[in-house]
Amino acid sequence: MRHFLNELDLTADEFRGIILRGSELRKQWESGTLEATLPHRVLGMIFEKSSTRTRVSFEAGMTQLGGHAIYLSPDNTQLGRGEPLADTAKVLSQMVDAISIRTFSQESVERFAEVSTVPVINALTDLLHPCQLLADMQTYFDHRGDIAGKKVVWVGDGNNMCNSYINTASLLGFHLTVAGPDGFEPDAQIMEAAAGSVTRTTSAAEACADADLIVTDVWASMGQEEEQKSREIAFADYEVTPELMALASEDALFMHCLPAHRGEEVSADVIDGAQSVVWEEAGNRLHAQKALLEFLLQ
Ligand code: CP
Ligand code: NVA
Repeated sequence: MRHFLNELDLTADEFRGIILRGSELRKQWESGTLEATLPHRVLGMIFEKSSTRTRVSFEAGMTQLGGHAIYLSPDNTQLGRGEPLADTAKVLSQMVDAISIRTFSQESVERFAEVSTVPVINALTDLLHPCQLLADMQTYFDHRGDIAGKKVVWVGDGNNMCNSYINTASLLGFHLTVAGPDGFEPDAQIMEAAAGSVTRTTSAAEACADADLIVTDVWASMGQEEEQKSREIAFADYEVTPELMALASEDALFMHCLPAHRGEEVSADVIDGAQSVVWEEAGNRLHAQKALLEFLLQ
């Protein structure tokens, strides 16, 4: 049995296999030839934070493959009344075929997976967002082919998405430059483990020169709402603007996991512009995760 808690739970071949299957599933879905490869399978989805894309892509994905998904939040389960996550894992394991969890600490997801007897999927923690990386990489591969050897730039906060990009850089063999202010660095252990694949700078302009892909995310993630104002000041020099995009390679792409704040981490002209692939990136959550579910459940 396999879990997907971290990008590095997959080998590079497995990661590439899942995103290529994701592209195939997208084509099948577009041409109306998708097959129900997971009949009667059930995914339990625990969400301790808000979600639009992750919830809908998993739920629609399970339905499209002939299965079903159940949304579980602390508000309407015993989790909110103090039933331990580990007890919940033992019980749900006997009723569903896989469990996705969006929560705060990565350790909670890891503890849950230790006692679960079915595959567990990390649907975002404060540390990582691996499902998003499957969709981002599928989108890049669909547009430009393999990302190995390419130059990717992360602009902004050293958050969960940034950490996931660092893991994926070492896994798939691209170079990542993280451009952000001091004090908002990515996870030190993750940086160290990927030392040959990642560099860090405080200059967004320097980082973006000749980039093949520029990626950013919100300045205040879920759980950091009270820091919104102080972060707007700290990150003021890290908006992805048309001027910054102009420094990148001519065919550079722009990605953002969404939800986005126009006029903060990205200008409207960039996110709604010709180099942005954010809508396709979001849409690919559906197909990449269907491929992940097949990988874990078949
Ligand atoms: N990108 C992403 O995970 O979006 P949601 O928070 O809407 O799921
Ligand atoms: N970094 C963001 C990603 C949301 C999908 C957050 O954690 O809120």
